Amino acid sequence: MPPGRVRERAVRRSIGIFDSGVGGLTVFRAIRRRLPAEDLVYFGDTAHVPYGTKSPDTVRRLTLEHVRFLLRRGATCIVVACNTASATALAALRRRTRVPIRGVSGPGVREALARTRQGRIGVLGTSTTVASGAYQRALARQGPRGTRVFAAACPLFVPLIEEGWAGARVTGEIARRYLAPLRAARVDTVILGCTHYPILKPALGRVLGPRVALVDSAEAVARALQGLLGERGLLRRPGRTGTERFFLTDVGGSFRRVAARFLGRPIPAPRKVNVRVESLHDGL
Ligand code: DGL
Repeated sequence: MPPGRVRERAVRRSIGIFDSGVGGLTVFRAIRRRLPAEDLVYFGDTAHVPYGTKSPDTVRRLTLEHVRFLLRRGATCIVVACNTASATALAALRRRTRVPIRGVSGPGVREALARTRQGRIGVLGTSTTVASGAYQRALARQGPRGTRVFAAACPLFVPLIEEGWAGARVTGEIARRYLAPLRAARVDTVILGCTHYPILKPALGRVLGPRVALVDSAEAVARALQGLLGERGLLRRPGRTGTERFFLTDVGGSFRRVAARFLGRPIPAPRKVNVRVESLHDGL
């Protein structure tokens, strides 16, 4: 079979997990831990990563195109694991699809509002996520009056984490700089609003101190997904071992090495998908 052509049956009744690249594997891992019997299909847009520095319009067009790949092949539920895509493309995706679509921002917002003691919440994310204002608006809309939100873009974190430097001294120094305004604002809860940041939890915890709650969006969305599938009677029989497939828009480079670190185990060889970027304007 030529690359990019996938037998439909192969991904039927699966949960599609979409990300700009490797980072969404933190979400994949959290979902796999909670839902061992489900068939998971991961799609990473490695040809266009990073999304976190692109305009919302470009992220939206790329996301619509790639989620369509998962839908055409019968995914019954889509998780937009990428925070940048969740912040910019979720509403557009929901308008165009019938299957349940879950982003990572909603569950993260709800958990932060449940955990904050004084209503002072920090949000960390890519430049595009923070500039979109999506987290800030959702927290203001859903939180009680007086909720204060302090957002910080942390563009250096993604490359540092992919380089394997999450625990390095230089990363701690950069984290101290990025987090200084949040510490000055005395936030009591911080949303890790990017696929990669759960890996930085120990370093961020050291900078912010033990009294600041760190909200891991990957865990939050995995819990929300379990609830959703349970309510709809879509959970598979326990005892079964779910299958896993990985599709990328570009293969090679360091994906498998970094992926093994994110997932905590080696991943099977990913398949390359040829998505025609020219058709980005088609919609779904
Ligand atoms: N997946 C992106 C996010 O969660 C981070 C990597 C990128 O910039 O594409 O925002």
